[in-house]
Amino acid sequence: MIKKLTLSAITALALSVTGAIAAGDGDTHIDDVAFSFEGPFGTYDVDQLQRGLKVYAEVCRACHGLQYVSFRSLSEPGGLGYTEEEVRAWAAENFEVFDPEIDDYRPALPRDNFPAVSGFGMGPDLSLMAKARAGFHGPAGTGINQLFKGMGGPEYITSFLMGFTGEEDEVAGQFLYENTAFDGGWVSMAPQLFDDLVEYDDGTPATEQQMAEDVAAFMMWTAEPKMMARKQAGFVGVILLVVLASLLYLTNKKLWAPHKYGKEMDL
Ligand code: HEC
Repeated sequence: MIKKLTLSAITALALSVTGAIAAGDGDTHIDDVAFSFEGPFGTYDVDQLQRGLKVYAEVCRACHGLQYVSFRSLSEPGGLGYTEEEVRAWAAENFEVFDPEIDDYRPALPRDNFPAVSGFGMGPDLSLMAKARAGFHGPAGTGINQLFKGMGGPEYITSFLMGFTGEEDEVAGQFLYENTAFDGGWVSMAPQLFDDLVEYDDGTPATEQQMAEDVAAFMMWTAEPKMMARKQAGFVGVILLVVLASLLYLTNKKLWAPHKYGKEMDL
């Protein structure tokens, strides 16, 4: 019985390992980008998030929704550093949402979410995309790289936007574009970015790479707007644990001292 169990355990392990190898990195190419929010002390670069929002609002929103993100969150603490009035004016000027109460479209208010986008030729919602994709898998699909480099969601998005080779193909009436980051190599999204496509308010040169990184950083924020608060809470937790561990150590020493050194305990 035990023998049989061991045998099947070994077979299952062997199968999963070969499976992992088969589902490995393939030949997709993901560049590592040094984002400001990486590591235990990394924080979002608010200027970069503002630039990323601009790229989203001027380019990507034509085909991609952001339905889980509220306009209000842009002005909240940990947001994009705008005031409530700025967000109110910007949302009303640039977005319309459907209001079931009046059964019609109206200018967006801070309490609304970014609109969802659907239909033929449209892409998936981008709210959680930075967490839905992983850039780093290997070695051999085991995911060990992620311990050191992170999941690589924003790196994947950057590499995806930069990964078009210029080759295109038509399959059953649908255009496909070759992309070195996309699993399978061909994607139905056409290349979107080219130098100076947008004009940044802070004077940063809008190169293709810059825009790709900025919009990827913004999408990391939409997927995890409270990352800074999470890291802070974790840090406080570690400090508390260190204090607690030192107190326990000292208490332990004191309690066992009489037995170790033959002294009487004076309480
Ligand atoms: C003209 C429409 C269009 C525009 C504009 C557009 N996309 Fe897409 N995008 C698509 C479509 C369609 C897909 C689905 C592709 C597929 O699965 O074959 C897609 C897919 C994606 C994906 C998912 C890739 C994956 O791994 O599944 C990401 C990320 C993405 N787009 C980011 C962006 C960003 C960022 C912008 C703005 C710079 C943008 N897109 C602009 C149409 C568009």
